[in-house]
Amino acid sequence: MADPPLLRMTGITKRFAGVTALAGVDFHVAAGEVHALVGENGAGKSTLLKVLTGVYRRDAGTIELEGQPRTFASPGEAQRHGVVAVYQEVPLLDRRTVAENILLGREPTHWGRIDWQALNNAAADVLGRLGPYLDPEAPLGSLDVAHRQLVAIARAASLAPRVLVLDEPTSAMPHREVEVLYDVVRRLRATGAGIIYVSHRFDELYALCDRVTVLRDGRHVFTRPLTGLEPLELVGVMLGKRREELRPLTPVGARRAPEGSPLLRVRDLQRTPRLQGVSLDVHAGEVVGLAGLLGSGRTETARVLFGLDPRDAGAIEFAGHPLRPHSPRNAIQRGIGFLAEDRRAEGIIPDLSVRENLTLAALPMLSRLGVVSRARQRDVVERFISRLRIRVASPEQPVRELSGGNQQKVLLARWLCRNPRLLILDEPTRGIDIGAKADIRAVVGELADAGLAVLLISSEIGELIEECARLVVLRDGRSAAELRGADVAEGPILRAMAGDRPREAAT
Ligand SMILES: Nc1ncnc2c1ncn2[C@@H]1O[C@H](COP(=O)(O)OP(=O)(O)OP(=O)(O)O)[C@@H](O)[C@H]1O
Ligand SMILES: [Mg+2]
Repeated sequence: MADPPLLRMTGITKRFAGVTALAGVDFHVAAGEVHALVGENGAGKSTLLKVLTGVYRRDAGTIELEGQPRTFASPGEAQRHGVVAVYQEVPLLDRRTVAENILLGREPTHWGRIDWQALNNAAADVLGRLGPYLDPEAPLGSLDVAHRQLVAIARAASLAPRVLVLDEPTSAMPHREVEVLYDVVRRLRATGAGIIYVSHRFDELYALCDRVTVLRDGRHVFTRPLTGLEPLELVGVMLGKRREELRPLTPVGARRAPEGSPLLRVRDLQRTPRLQGVSLDVHAGEVVGLAGLLGSGRTETARVLFGLDPRDAGAIEFAGHPLRPHSPRNAIQRGIGFLAEDRRAEGIIPDLSVRENLTLAALPMLSRLGVVSRARQRDVVERFISRLRIRVASPEQPVRELSGGNQQKVLLARWLCRNPRLLILDEPTRGIDIGAKADIRAVVGELADAGLAVLLISSEIGELIEECARLVVLRDGRSAAELRGADVAEGPILRAMAGDRPREAAT
């Protein structure tokens, strides 16, 4: 008989109050393979992996590791058996350094005290294999989401896992950093580890994975090698639709360029150290893309526009008047919304209900004399739950119980129901499945047609090309190029992002 697979999960069932998240799922991973796990938002991917790693207790089913039945009572126990996970929302310690986070709980000691020198050296060793991207002594809190994800992955890789679970590791990661991740994963695969890879980005699945398992509504649909599997077939299986039913994604960027004076006019915006001269216009009814490499100043620009950070110099005009937002509250009053890239730090309030999270920014509008009209709230909430197809048991469900992609939709709905004039979206479809992306695009497109101005920040060039008629490319904190029409295409965008510099000098 053949050896047992590295990991064999059989008949896994998991129920939450009112929801069956997993119904008898079988899932096998071989040694030395990268196994993609895909499915719509809420299909049960994260739940299956949390059952594996002892975050959740299963209601039925068995788990075998190299033929041995196993039940892990906690992620710590799973880790001791070589099963290590990096989740969608990375729990790291902001006040500690990169090195401390990587070696947390395994700090080298000398006479009972942490040996800082050894700690930093050990971390530098791990990071050295990842590429020259991170300083071991930098406080974690100073890093952006993509680099935090790299730290979490470095930590996992340094545990020499036999089974490594990566649940949407790249959702906030631009191109270049994704390559670093690929390297790490391939190196681990070569050691005979089994890697489980969850992602909504098809290009990644095809670039990295050997086999794919599809979950739909908490059930196993199929497991197949990716070679020879057509992307369109995979999408159809995920969504449970036949090929003929799949809606083609119609580009909304094709709409005509607006005329007249812009709603938002930014000139030579500066803020040390990152912003050194950003200029851009957004008209009402226009979706303008903001492209650039990690560190090019995209998020920093958004934060200044939304009043989260002060600027040092430069002019902002909004609806014909100078804008000096000194707080988000102030920006919201002027009609500006901002969907932040890090939903945990800046957005979602896990213990509040879906209804409360969704209507948070809208509260002043929905309340009269400080009393929030329940009936109006309920209407708004129901409208957006159905329009964005947010998967909830009830609007009163705490938002932490939603799947990652559905939490993201709640955040987007929060801003849409506020009816802003300008919406700044930072990686809005991060973690969103391919069907839901089309829903979101349709809703944003409709609102733009009705006059909403959108500034779209995205690391997915495909998304920018499909959504935007015009694109501003930032490089090193400056507006480096403005592309429109036929120039909104991969080649020109990549060239503008990279500039003339030789690739290696770009670190
Ligand atoms: N702690 C919980 N309490 C109640 N329901 C939960 C809990 N965790 C998950 N669920 C429900 O289980 C279902 C599966 O969720 P899961 O997070 O596994 O989806 P997913 O496939 O990872 O989706 P995504 O792509 O959005 O991350 C969803 O309906 C979700 O609301
Ligand atoms: Mg998930």
